[in-house]
Amino acid sequence: MGITLNMRKMAYLTEGITYRELARKGELFFDRICEDPAVGFTDLPEQLIYLDHSDEALNRLPAGMETLYVLGIGGSALGTSMLLRAFPDSCRRRVVVVDNVDSDTIHRLLNEMEPEKSVLNVISKSGSTVEPLSLFSAFFAHLAEKLGEKEAFRRVVVTTDIKKGALRQLAEEKGLISLSIPNNVGGRFSVLTPVGLFPAMFAGIDPVHLLLGAKREKREGRGRAVCGAVLDYLSQEQNRNIKVLFPYCDRLKTFGDWYLQLFAESLGKLKNRRGMVVRSGQTGVVAVGVTDQHSQLQLYKEGPGDKSFFFFTVKEQKDVPIPAVFDNYSSFEVLRGKAFGELMQAEAEGTMQSLERNSLPVFEYQLEKLDGETLGALIFMFEMQTAITGYLMNVNPFDQPGVEEGKLIARKLLES
Ligand code: PA5
Repeated sequence: MGITLNMRKMAYLTEGITYRELARKGELFFDRICEDPAVGFTDLPEQLIYLDHSDEALNRLPAGMETLYVLGIGGSALGTSMLLRAFPDSCRRRVVVVDNVDSDTIHRLLNEMEPEKSVLNVISKSGSTVEPLSLFSAFFAHLAEKLGEKEAFRRVVVTTDIKKGALRQLAEEKGLISLSIPNNVGGRFSVLTPVGLFPAMFAGIDPVHLLLGAKREKREGRGRAVCGAVLDYLSQEQNRNIKVLFPYCDRLKTFGDWYLQLFAESLGKLKNRRGMVVRSGQTGVVAVGVTDQHSQLQLYKEGPGDKSFFFFTVKEQKDVPIPAVFDNYSSFEVLRGKAFGELMQAEAEGTMQSLERNSLPVFEYQLEKLDGETLGALIFMFEMQTAITGYLMNVNPFDQPGVEEGKLIARKLLES
């Protein structure tokens, strides 16, 4: 699986601060979080039952289904987007994540939908979020109009809380295929429940490797999660208010999006656990290498020194040579005998060194390769790291009062 956290020149972050003391605390928090029955994401790597449930749900669908529409938002959508983007070669069936209520998009998707071959997976932990509920209403009505209600209901999979909420009630009353999200797993920590497992399996991605990687990371990755948490904590202490994720890998782009939500909702808090106003958290940004070297790097290198940088490089990638067709022209010469992998590595190293020359803190996650086990490990590592950072900062990483308030106001506006 192979993930190495390369600390590079970490002195910029740790000067004058007892890193060791924070790491010791972080280790205690790791154990405490794993043992806390109220925190469910740490149990998921061992929970094969959700694979079985997802498999049963797949088997109950009518034959010949080609497209799955995932109707969810935030933690109910971003994990699936991450998996689909990371493993395009495994996807034999289409999964469309609909995570916005933009009528142009909805109109286009409904127009192109093939009802006989389509399944709706409405996902909402609370069962009360207006976005997935409205999308479900629109997509279901479309299916029912074309196929009749009975056939439409056969093409619905509901993923929601085991007991509570309108979706659970609907699933039970109509006898729909349904999957459960454990009570102690919050939306943004739920990708290794049926929230992410079922759409992955529909597409053709084998989620067993994700769970294996997560399990191994839980067993062996304590030092890495703690180290990442301490770095995030120190970055914030030093007013580095922006965390830039720089994956040098297109397949990790939506991993970045998934992580930013995890990071933002878990650590961006008005008050700490003692009720004091702290306004904690860093703003996360995803920049994809090399593409964003040519859009954001100038600012990162020479603009405000308020950022910390986390690079992701992948050693083993498909070997695509750069053919020497034009190397009698001067600018092409440097490419002679090279492959795209080497070009990517050189660009990543060049960018890291150039940021370091301006005394900016740079860290690198070196991945041997990007397979299911590695992604599973990254998922567990970053969930754990985020939780530990929250504990170091003394904020609750598992609530999201700001999001809830916005949801309530929107509901009130709709009611008036
Ligand atoms: O992490 C979270 O809790 C949120 O991002 C939720 O996933 C998001 O608000 C959607 O909520 P729900 O799954 O209840 O519809």
